[in-house]
Amino acid sequence: MASLGIITRKLLFSLLTIASILFFLSWFFVLRSTSIDTSLFSNTNTNPLPVVNNGNFEARIRNRAILNDSVEEEEAELSQKEDGVKCNTKNTAILKVYMYDLAPEFHFELLDWKAQGGSVWPDITKNIPQYPGGLNLQHSIEYWLTLDLLASEIPNIPRASSVIRVHNSSEADLIFVPFFASLSYNKFSKKTPHKKKGNDRVLQDKLVDYVTNQELWKQSQGKDHFIVAHHPNSLLSARMKLWRTTFILSDFGRYPPNIANVDKDVIAPYKHVIKPYVNDTSDFDTRPTLLYFQGAIYRKDGGFARQELFYLLKDEKDVHFTFGSVQRNGINKATQGMHASKFCLNIAGDTPSSNRLFDAIVSHCVPVIISDEIELPYEDVLDYSEFCIFVRTSDAVKEHYLINLIRSIKKDEWTRKRDRLKEVEDFFKFQYPSKEGDAVQMIWQAVARKVPAMRLKIHKSKRFSHTTTKKEQGLKSIPSPRNFW
Ligand SMILES: *[C@@H]1O[C@H](CO)[C@@H](O)[C@H](O)[C@H]1NC(C)=O
Ligand SMILES: *[C@@H]1O[C@H](CO)[C@@H](O)[C@H](O)[C@H]1NC(C)=O
Ligand SMILES: *[C@@H]1O[C@H](CO)[C@@H](O)[C@H](O)[C@H]1NC(C)=O
Repeated sequence: MASLGIITRKLLFSLLTIASILFFLSWFFVLRSTSIDTSLFSNTNTNPLPVVNNGNFEARIRNRAILNDSVEEEEAELSQKEDGVKCNTKNTAILKVYMYDLAPEFHFELLDWKAQGGSVWPDITKNIPQYPGGLNLQHSIEYWLTLDLLASEIPNIPRASSVIRVHNSSEADLIFVPFFASLSYNKFSKKTPHKKKGNDRVLQDKLVDYVTNQELWKQSQGKDHFIVAHHPNSLLSARMKLWRTTFILSDFGRYPPNIANVDKDVIAPYKHVIKPYVNDTSDFDTRPTLLYFQGAIYRKDGGFARQELFYLLKDEKDVHFTFGSVQRNGINKATQGMHASKFCLNIAGDTPSSNRLFDAIVSHCVPVIISDEIELPYEDVLDYSEFCIFVRTSDAVKEHYLINLIRSIKKDEWTRKRDRLKEVEDFFKFQYPSKEGDAVQMIWQAVARKVPAMRLKIHKSKRFSHTTTKKEQGLKSIPSPRNFW
């Protein structure tokens, strides 16, 4: 009996040992596989396209690259960690974009450029059509992206390398619809007399007609297309028909979530209207104004907070809080004001976003964001809490809350945020020719990060394509918010 007991005990012991070994092994594999998963979907990854950059853009190497993806991306992640906290803008994968040769009335003719010699595009080696100035410029994103695409074909222009234009659509990652929607809205939104529709609406209708009749569109229903509609009111009617497309927007304030959302679309910064603070030697002690705000009064929607805050802050001596939009010579005053302030308020107006945030960034004035619905550009690779302060609207309108919070931020913390602002400010600057790490390149890279999800959608939609009828593929139906994806 005793020996039987010992045997059972030995047996139990070895079973326990084996079980624990198996347990540890399984943990090991679980950890390993999760680390691979995170590397595949990692947010810090700036090499999102499953394309190996071997210098030969013509070669179609996607499938090979997909097999090698995880290894490569792990390596990319490792090298990024060594780069430290700076947002990595080094880019090895090049986004390949096919651009429709839309008639000039949709793009550069809106800048009063006249097409010559059969080409619908300006010869930018000779002359670059200028975008109208003033506040128009804040939504000029479409213009800078298009110029960069055109420049990608011209040898000897020193430019950045996130994107290249291709003329064979089957080589492209994405299809670009180069409609200057914001400019069309700014120029033409008013109804012309004796006509039913304003010219902006006429252009949108023409655009929808053109795009939805393209073979490329029909193949994917526009899922691999993208279009810029940065002004909140631009593309107002066409957006309802082109909803499967990726939009480049300022925010989602005026979009139903089934038409535009953070999964499908890309948020781009406004072009700042304030002059950047070049050679800034100011610091916490030499910026006299504690908190700066200049903006319009809004009484509707999210804008109520502006008035509440005005009453809460109007008696603070070192706070500048005035209403009035930044027009012409107002820009100079606002530039001086922001350059002389420690913190700059960014309060939701009639939309969640505004150019004020980007004005603050280039002024090295630490942004205080009071806008619960705001979406921020490239937030998947950029941690805004390192250089901004976020305050919930419900807290901000409590008596003394905001001013106490701002006064509690001392020189050390402010200086850390200001230093980070100087590091990131280039991500928000638009220029031609575009440079590595500027807003144009950051937007291209954000667009590139959407490509795998677009492919997934397209491939999934093909599963039962042999059974779908022509009617079911129609464009009219808009999905319910729950299954837009
Ligand atoms: C993966 O990449 C290596 C070199 O980086 C290459 O030699 C190998 O053939 C690739 N594997 C596949 C399956 O393409
Ligand atoms: C476009 O690219 C595809 C795939 O690389 C190729 O098969 C096709 O011949 C190309 N078409 C033209 C017109 O060059
Ligand atoms: C900034 O400093 C550099 C070098 O000191 C100088 O060349 C440049 O003109 C300055 N720019 C401005 C706008 O002051």
